[in-house]
Amino acid sequence: MPSITGIKSRTVFDSRGAKTIEIDVITDEKFSGRACAPSGASVGKYEAQSFPKNSPEKALDVLKANEIKFIGLDAADPKAVFEVLRSIYSTETYSLVGAAVAYALSLASVQSASKALDTPMFTLLKPHGPYRFPFPLGNILGGGAHAGPGTPDIQEILACPVGVRDISEALEMNFRVHKEVRKVIQANDEDFTYGRGDEGGWAPKADNDQALEIAERAVKNCGFTLGDDMSLGIDFASSTLWDAKAQVYNYKRQQITRDRYKQIDYVNHLIKNYKLIYAEDPVNEEDFEGAAIITKDNKRCLVTGDDMLVTNVMRAKRASEYKACSGAILKVNQAGSLYDAMNFAKECTANGIKLITSHRSGESIDSHLVHIAISTDSKMLKAGIVGGERVAKLNELLRLREYDLIDGMAVL
Ligand code: PGA
Ligand code: ZN
Repeated sequence: MPSITGIKSRTVFDSRGAKTIEIDVITDEKFSGRACAPSGASVGKYEAQSFPKNSPEKALDVLKANEIKFIGLDAADPKAVFEVLRSIYSTETYSLVGAAVAYALSLASVQSASKALDTPMFTLLKPHGPYRFPFPLGNILGGGAHAGPGTPDIQEILACPVGVRDISEALEMNFRVHKEVRKVIQANDEDFTYGRGDEGGWAPKADNDQALEIAERAVKNCGFTLGDDMSLGIDFASSTLWDAKAQVYNYKRQQITRDRYKQIDYVNHLIKNYKLIYAEDPVNEEDFEGAAIITKDNKRCLVTGDDMLVTNVMRAKRASEYKACSGAILKVNQAGSLYDAMNFAKECTANGIKLITSHRSGESIDSHLVHIAISTDSKMLKAGIVGGERVAKLNELLRLREYDLIDGMAVL
């Protein structure tokens, strides 16, 4: 058993320049694993808090005072780390130590164990195959909480190369479409400054309908058939548009509002018109019934809960009762530790809800995400498109091709 012999921790900066924490876990006195906590911009109301009192320093103080309790644990066992975290910080939302410590400690432990045992991380999290590559969802164009004024209200338009059988080809196709999107934007707006959102997608001056037309045109210009070789998806992140008081979705940049029924109609229309394979948070995080209507009407589209489910087992149970979602975003730091997230994955899989493992908009150059996706049988992976912290994850997919263990692409 690879045993934890040391822990080091520090504050560092994420891809947005915001302060976060990084933890090193040392196993058997020589194998070091490292993980840095990511952070969101469109944060779900029910996700775990990153830091106690919003202070990374405070989180590290609490960790340092309790470090000794982790010494001697089996680094390969996320449950062991989880139990100690919970025994010290008894709340479910990690309010005393924060989800960032739970995240970084649990991932750094498994990485150090993977070095000690000389096996890739995903094999520790899932000891037996089959293993498959998730389809990469490339963020090609966006706005909302990830970009500035003038950009679409929709947070992300995503490319998914559904027709490929090889991960390298899948990534190449996404990069081609991303490049082409820029050309199409430029053809419409010669003053386009090449601005990009937090995850690498282009952030043009455009409304939602124009943005979708640009994406569709780019797919066609690349010679791909929409819905056949290449599909599109949308993260509506609609909780950020929802005005609970007025009970409307406020498309501020387009200067229109939609009530609940109009929103559902709009989403249904976009799914059909653009043959969307993926629709994330199409209604606000509380509206399980609304999500259920969309899920029922669109069997070929993964209607996915992110802010709605927040990687939380109880919310996944609720989604199953309502038949609210056919897809679930898995973001470890929404839940806290890796063990919490793996339990969420089990709950979703047991109820036929397909998993999409996801980065956050504020990221590091860690690539653990890919191992989590493979070990949870995720059908898709959201890891952005360009920028060092995004490409770090995509390139890890290519490295893992060298293991004969992985048997092609996921079955959607
Ligand atoms: P976040 O956005 O990391 O800013 O929450 C990503 C998403 O909503 O999928
Ligand atoms: Zn989202």
